[in-house]
Amino acid sequence: MTPACPLQLNDHGRLRHFLSLDGLPRELLTEILDTADSFLEVGARAVKKVPLMRGMTVCNVFFENSTRTRTTFELAAKRLSADVITLNVSTSSTSKGETLTDTLRTLEAMAADMFVMRHADSGAAHFVAEHVSPNVAIINGGDGRHAHPTQGMLDMLTIRRHKGDFSQLKVAIVGDILHSRVARSNMIALKTLGCPDIRVIAPKTLLPVGLEQYGVNVYHNIEQGLKDVDVVIMLRLQRERMRSGLLPSESEFYRLFGLSEQRVALAHPEAIVMHPGPINRGVEIDSSVADSPRAMILNQVTYGIAVRMAVLSMTMSGQNEQRQLDAEKSAQQEAR
Ligand code: CP
Repeated sequence: MTPACPLQLNDHGRLRHFLSLDGLPRELLTEILDTADSFLEVGARAVKKVPLMRGMTVCNVFFENSTRTRTTFELAAKRLSADVITLNVSTSSTSKGETLTDTLRTLEAMAADMFVMRHADSGAAHFVAEHVSPNVAIINGGDGRHAHPTQGMLDMLTIRRHKGDFSQLKVAIVGDILHSRVARSNMIALKTLGCPDIRVIAPKTLLPVGLEQYGVNVYHNIEQGLKDVDVVIMLRLQRERMRSGLLPSESEFYRLFGLSEQRVALAHPEAIVMHPGPINRGVEIDSSVADSPRAMILNQVTYGIAVRMAVLSMTMSGQNEQRQLDAEKSAQQEAR
């Protein structure tokens, strides 16, 4: 496993950016889940607000399409009482040739405290975190096929709330692993949280090299892979990232890897079915499964708001703490 990116932690090991789950300790992931659990109650109140981020400005900058991530980040920031700007990239000056860093510096000049960013290039969030002012936090809302850390954490919250302890679970991730940032974040989170049996089920053409680093068991036959699993995580075919020739056709993929009622019946009788969305009915999942009581697809969206509240508020605290540590260091240097 890659070590945690030093950039995303402050001098006390607390979050100051949220770029990837790689190398983050189990205690930190558990704290995100516990904090998110406490925020779920806020969403059930008549007045769905807490004052934790009053006076802060959060800017959503999405260079790729999104329904769930963009809107749930916006709701999360508003429920924390932050001011929120959502930049419509297609009508912004990036479409006139402005570079990514120049667009973000412009927003920084408006005193934004945090950027939530989605970008088609792997590593984009990390690049921006290296270049923004030290007081601005970057939250990765998905970068290329690299990472989607808040999706990973909301998936873990879904599993913990419906299945409990990770140490006894069998979890299958099915479909287009090669192009999926969700699969990568989920494999890292499951391993860190102690899941002993992580299975990936996919055709050989949709598997990345280097899977062994994630400690997963690979299956090319869905019937074998689903046997007795407690959790099935289906993935969307990422057509926009796929070069031609990786798949014979969508109907052939569905015939070999689609989740039908007959196939779900091979899992544990109380297994849950998850999907990060957007779902493609009849391509990776049958409607009868997607709409069944065991499907957690809409619960995942609800939990996503609470997880994003947890990540925003913990990152804000980590940034504030670092600012204080830096001020103390400068005061000590001046006193010498
Ligand atoms: N799961 C997810 O990232 O969905 P969106 O693309 O709609 O944000």
